[in-house]
Amino acid sequence: MKNITRVALITSGGDCQGLNAAMRGIGKALHNKIENLEIFGMYDGYRGLIEGDYKFMEPKDFAGILTQGGTILGTSRQRYVPGKDIVDENGNSLIPAMKDTYNKLNLDCLVIMGGNGTQKSAKLLMDAGMNVVTLPKTIDNDIWGTDTTFGFQSAVDIATNVIDYIHSTASSHSRVFLVELMGRDAGWLTLHAGIGSGADIILIPEIPYDIDNILKAIDHRRRHGRSFSILAVAEGAKSVHDQILTEEESRRRREESKHSTISYEIAAQIEAALGQEARVTVPGHYQRGGPPCPYDRVLATQFGTAAADLIVNKQYGRMVAIQNGHIVSIPLEEAASKTKFLPTYHPLIQVARDIGISFGDK
Ligand code: F6P
Repeated sequence: MKNITRVALITSGGDCQGLNAAMRGIGKALHNKIENLEIFGMYDGYRGLIEGDYKFMEPKDFAGILTQGGTILGTSRQRYVPGKDIVDENGNSLIPAMKDTYNKLNLDCLVIMGGNGTQKSAKLLMDAGMNVVTLPKTIDNDIWGTDTTFGFQSAVDIATNVIDYIHSTASSHSRVFLVELMGRDAGWLTLHAGIGSGADIILIPEIPYDIDNILKAIDHRRRHGRSFSILAVAEGAKSVHDQILTEEESRRRREESKHSTISYEIAAQIEAALGQEARVTVPGHYQRGGPPCPYDRVLATQFGTAAADLIVNKQYGRMVAIQNGHIVSIPLEEAASKTKFLPTYHPLIQVARDIGISFGDK
């Protein structure tokens, strides 16, 4: 009797555009390449693997989902103890339960689609003896070892569009607008959307700002006939004073502040110092919603078929990636080792400075 290849698909962590396109790529390519195949879809990320909650996926399940946002399998976030464990609310390890499901289903491989945290937790599953192949997905673009991730370009499109629309109302009212964008502790999304939409000031976590420089940039625009200003602000942006705070101190500082996010705080500082109306727009999860843009559909399909190749060749413990336009794979160990922050020497930062965009640092 011929061996059956058994694969489980998992979408984990925050969703993003392109997850269904990636699963479609994996499913279709695997069905084309492997004769005896069973694909299981785990519900709600690791929860499905922990509880043995899954569906058997047939070829028809991979049809008609290319353009669909979100994930048809659902997703969830699990508690991750850095480099050590995935635990429940009482601190008990969930890895044995996952391994149990893996063994019961007689799986050959887990295909895990996730962001930075998921790559790290997938490495723990690999260390526990499970075969794992991962795909990099996130709007934050902060996964080490890949030039980009699917979801990122779609979020850039949305964020750019939000700032485009803000321009006309900012100009009509001669107001300052702060558009706060996602990205956690990385500034990729804000930098790209800021340049793409013609923002005047871009604040990213990797370049701490001084409020006086922001005020100077706005005032300079006013004195040169620009009555409005637009700031693209990363949710993780920090002032030079706050950059020295530990994670815990930053959290406490935000809790104690009367401003719910950094943008509201900066808006209040601008109004107080310049007497100009400042408004905040936070598109939030809107940036992760809706259909993937064509670039992400293509990228997710490329990643999906590359993941299928890894499975066919039994090359486990790897993350598919794109480097210099080529689809490659790298050891999961490497992908999980660091976070890909925006280097301050990145050419796009210089491009922005060349056209007069301020980062609030000078
Ligand atoms: O990592 C993706 C992301 O959208 C970040 O940009 C953001 O900080 C976070 O997830 C939001 O998390 P949640 O969906 O759990 O609110």
